[in-house]
Amino acid sequence: MPTLTNKRILLGITGGIAAYKCAELSRLFTRAGAEVRVVMTRAAQEFVTPLTMQALTGNRVLMDLLDFEAEAAMGHIELARWADLVLVAPASADFLARTAHGRADDLLSTLILATSAPIAIAPAMNQGMWSDPGTRQNLDEVRGRGYHVFGPAEGDQACGDVGPGRMVEPADLFASCAELFSGEPLAGRHLLITGGPTREAIDPVRFLSNHSSGKMAYALAAEAAAAGARVTLISGPVSLPTPDRVTRIDVTSAEDMLAATMERIADADAFIGVAAVADYRPANQTAGKIKKDKASMAIDLVRNPDIISEVAGLNPRPLVVGFAAETEDVTANGREKLERKQLDLLFANNATETFNSDEVAATAISAEGEVEIPRARKEAVARKMLELIAERLPVSVEAPA
Ligand code: CTP
Repeated sequence: MPTLTNKRILLGITGGIAAYKCAELSRLFTRAGAEVRVVMTRAAQEFVTPLTMQALTGNRVLMDLLDFEAEAAMGHIELARWADLVLVAPASADFLARTAHGRADDLLSTLILATSAPIAIAPAMNQGMWSDPGTRQNLDEVRGRGYHVFGPAEGDQACGDVGPGRMVEPADLFASCAELFSGEPLAGRHLLITGGPTREAIDPVRFLSNHSSGKMAYALAAEAAAAGARVTLISGPVSLPTPDRVTRIDVTSAEDMLAATMERIADADAFIGVAAVADYRPANQTAGKIKKDKASMAIDLVRNPDIISEVAGLNPRPLVVGFAAETEDVTANGREKLERKQLDLLFANNATETFNSDEVAATAISAEGEVEIPRARKEAVARKMLELIAERLPVSVEAPA
């Protein structure tokens, strides 16, 4: 079964007897890891109940454009932006006519105008209506706009006719939709990412830490999730919101970060160590607050575990990707780190230009050589980095059962 991890499917149901098949269709999507939100036209509600679709998708079914409560939860423009794919199934002759003319007279047609996501339709209607020149013209119009048209299939029709007009079966419709995402190299992969600084306690109110903002790790997590990966982000203390579709585990110290990593590494396809892990921690954390009763003081430090090296030492191990923020000889120091830590890939950059900045440049270093990633916003650089990571992932992907 293809995987649709993290994909957001907006399923529009219009009035037609095939509407009942949407129950099975939505289950296929959710079982493949997608999130489904359903929008029903008034006529669709005569064929399948909103409650059925709500129970199957776990999301409230939306029906009206002027529903103040629904708008307060997720406005229609927000919903149009939310979708990775809008699928209208079944698409009735009336819906086809309205959408071909750019109407916005109900919630579904409005969403179709507002979205920038790909749109797919699965027409279903009586064979005579399907053959009618008006319908043909409408179909040509939406095809010309780039809509994907799946079906209709031929055969016995609910009205007793035989011919083209049946909605494509849910399993085939699901497969055609999954095909639209099949080119995405991170689809269904599990990426484990560490990010942010760690804090090493000196006493109950003080700690050792660094200036890492977590922005690079968070940008990578967000972009990977948008590209269909399952993302676990193990984060030190930062003041950033959790990116959409990302599972975030908050940790404080390097030891916590190592434990959280090892707990989740078994099914990771790639480990990306972006965190600025403190190399040392105070040997002893005092139980009470340290008082300033001495003219000077020393803190004894001990080495922290090297998380990425521990991951690189696993057998079997995921693809291991590191980061190095250096202040001098960026590429040479980066390559030394790649080899010493036995990494598959390392992104090196200049620490003075990177910490807390929204823009970054990086050099990707691997056994094959170096690739320069020009300075750009962290989101754009993250996408480029993910391309280089995806190229190195083993080819086969296990889809969820
Ligand atoms: N790293 C880690 N655990 C540590 C230290 C670093 O997982 N205790 C990871 C970082 O997340 C990064 C890579 O190792 O991916 C390189 O981090 P860096 O701090 O540059 O490496 P160090 O080994 O600490 O080298 P340096 O002596 O330059 O501080």
